[in-house]
Amino acid sequence: MPVIAGEKGLQLNEQTLSMRLERVAAHVPAGARLADIGSDHGYLPVALMGRGVISAAVAGEVALTPFHAAERTVRESGQDLRITVRQANGLAAIEPEDRITAISICGMGGETIRDILDSGKTRLSGQERLILQPNGGEQPLRQWLMENGYRILCEELLRENRFDYEIIVAERAGSVLYTAEELYFGPLQMQARSPAFLDKWQRMLRQKQKNLASFARARQAIPEDKMQDIARQARWITELLA
Ligand SMILES: C[S@@+](CC[C@H](N)C(=O)[O-])C[C@H]1O[C@@H](n2cnc3c(N)ncnc32)[C@H](O)[C@@H]1O
Repeated sequence: MPVIAGEKGLQLNEQTLSMRLERVAAHVPAGARLADIGSDHGYLPVALMGRGVISAAVAGEVALTPFHAAERTVRESGQDLRITVRQANGLAAIEPEDRITAISICGMGGETIRDILDSGKTRLSGQERLILQPNGGEQPLRQWLMENGYRILCEELLRENRFDYEIIVAERAGSVLYTAEELYFGPLQMQARSPAFLDKWQRMLRQKQKNLASFARARQAIPEDKMQDIARQARWITELLA
């Protein structure tokens, strides 16, 4: 059984998912027809199908080596009739006849996930649940969700192997308005203030303060707007933690 144990990309295998993918899996509705975009080894759809959670899946991969790996995982699981593996860029892996009801896009930067959603907009029926797990870049991703009428239904933050991972679950709901701070911290996380959330932002504040101090010490030619942006973020975090 193939085992992947790279630190940031820890996935484990098609039966034992990493804690990160396990939490993603928990947001996939029972009976869903799932498109897992950027599926890599295809562990998420294969695990969910093996557990009887989903009824059909598409595993989309842009790169050849992970595409072949996903094909192998699906073939060896004996689920090739219900899981289709396609080599495609982003949402181009989805065809209307797939009747997809949930889309997972995990383990990539938030900007990459945003770009995948934006360039594949025509493939979205608006009925799908989006289960997104960005590695950083959460703010621009939330901004895209808001601008495209997606309401954030659930947010999770977990720490695994010294990395903070966020999970954002969203569904289209008409017009939605979030404040700049809500887009930055996550509207639901801001309300829930979980210990993991407060720990993350304490670490982020220390990092921002270190950056500001080193800019000031070195008198580096940092553009004024960048300095002000970091100073504003540090102020928001200080207020959040107060
Ligand atoms: C770090 S892996 C994450 C794999 C898995 N989703 C997870 O969370 O463990 C990111 C995968 O996304 C794929 N990927 C990146 N951009 C993509 C795109 N535009 N369309 C499809 N796959 C993409 C990469 O080839 C890579 O296999």
